[in-house]
Amino acid sequence: MIDIHCHLLPGVDDGPSTMDEALALAQFSVDRGITHSVVTPHIHPGRWDNEALTIRASMDVFKGALADKNIPLTIGMSGEMRVGLEALQMVASHKVPFLGKWGENYVILLEMPHSHIPTGMQQMIQWLLQRNIRPLIAHPERNKDVLRRIDKIQPLVDLGCLFQVTAGSISGRFGSTARDRAIQLLEMGVVTVLATDAHNLKRRPPSLDEGRDAAAVIVGAEVANKLVVENPWKIVSCQFE
Ligand SMILES: [Fe+2]
Repeated sequence: MIDIHCHLLPGVDDGPSTMDEALALAQFSVDRGITHSVVTPHIHPGRWDNEALTIRASMDVFKGALADKNIPLTIGMSGEMRVGLEALQMVASHKVPFLGKWGENYVILLEMPHSHIPTGMQQMIQWLLQRNIRPLIAHPERNKDVLRRIDKIQPLVDLGCLFQVTAGSISGRFGSTARDRAIQLLEMGVVTVLATDAHNLKRRPPSLDEGRDAAAVIVGAEVANKLVVENPWKIVSCQFE
């Protein structure tokens, strides 16, 4: 399986704080059947000041540590860009690393605030699309507007966004309402990929298999597998060529 949203790099955001914790997350990923993890540190100016150059440097150190420990996890990189004016500036100055491609479009992983779908979200998506960048919306099932009303997601669907649902949401780790929304999105057929959004072993582990198996009950094993293998690979394979 290919995990394209996870926080495995040590000391760069609210993921693992030490290299030992980071390596434990990587080993856990391997044990649960993940072959490739694309690390996606938060890019949230003023809070998490990550950008392409700094993420790459951290990734290179992490890759070296994985090799030293013989942990067979292939690592790629991107970032989880927080919606906002700074995001536009950072994209324009090429500081946001793309996740990969979807057809002819470049893809970035975009995070909305949990509290709501921000005003200007549709304009920001249009701005990105005009630049041949298609947003992959991180965990829409955990956004409070979507939790209140599933149809709040429809304008983003209509604009052509891709959607990443978090594996743990389907298996109920974020409560019953988030699980219901995750299941509804699966049933609507708008989910592009499942990913772990792993941060730590205790509460948010990289259990992609758990999400795949829970999704299989809803959409069948073949579609569930596509969401953790083919579709994520379609996006990120260009990182590994
Ligand atoms: Fe995340």
